[in-house]
Amino acid sequence: MSDRIEIDSDTWVLVLTGAGVSAESGIPTFRASPDGLWENHKIEDVASPEGFAADPSLVWRFYSERRAKAKTVDPNPGHHALRALEEKLGDRFLLATQNVDGLHGRAGSKRVVEIHGSLFKTRCAFCERDPFDDDVVYADNEVPGCGSCAERGEFGVLRPHIVWFGEMLDPRDLHRISRFMSNAPKLLFIAAGTSGAVYPAAGFVNNARRFGAHTVLINADPADNGSQFHRWIQGKSGSVLPELFHVR
Ligand code: OAD
Repeated sequence: MSDRIEIDSDTWVLVLTGAGVSAESGIPTFRASPDGLWENHKIEDVASPEGFAADPSLVWRFYSERRAKAKTVDPNPGHHALRALEEKLGDRFLLATQNVDGLHGRAGSKRVVEIHGSLFKTRCAFCERDPFDDDVVYADNEVPGCGSCAERGEFGVLRPHIVWFGEMLDPRDLHRISRFMSNAPKLLFIAAGTSGAVYPAAGFVNNARRFGAHTVLINADPADNGSQFHRWIQGKSGSVLPELFHVR
């Protein structure tokens, strides 16, 4: 690539990734389907608290299928390039991902904020117990109960630790991202593989600009918030990211 991004010793790099970064690993993006369905389901049926209340076994089947799929795929060169950049920058790097597939972690990235949760974590829909690691692919029609609730003689149902439509992101995650932006002497903001359709992540570019960031979008297609970026590199993240950075 001719115009690489130079990263000097004052520069801090905040990266936001979306489903496009995992596309080359074989995980379909969200807005790939023209009829707006996810794997043949209406979004609100499988990714909202109301959908879960109406049919928890459908929601668990959907996320169990996604767990099973995510286990069979591997990180691609885009994930590995971000891990390599973090190894060079250390605490001057932060990765916020909208992806719940765990592929950044499996590539070795450490400074990762999974702002939309994780496919491989579960929590109770009723009690305040902490989310816990869980890679179980539940059987059809199985809705796991909460053991902590049961110990207290109460009824509780487990749910995926995913931020659904209508739910708030964890304020601690947003705070970590804001603090990184505000502490950076010189900020570079990269968004990769995201359509810029879902807030608050789609607004990170504007927040970053308020902190004086240079902003670059790497995306295969135009993004809804594309006009907010200084530069758009049209292409696949698995090809663009490994060639993009030159750390001085
Ligand atoms: P989308 O499916 O909305 O957008 C993926 C973007 O990646 C599209 O603009 C594609 O053009 C682009 N793309 C596809 N393949 C690519 C590749 N190989 N390299 C680079 N770009 C590529 O996914 P997100 O923006 O991640 O939220 O969607 C945001 C959120 O919407 C998701 O996290 C999910 C969904 O609602 C929750 O589940 C809470």
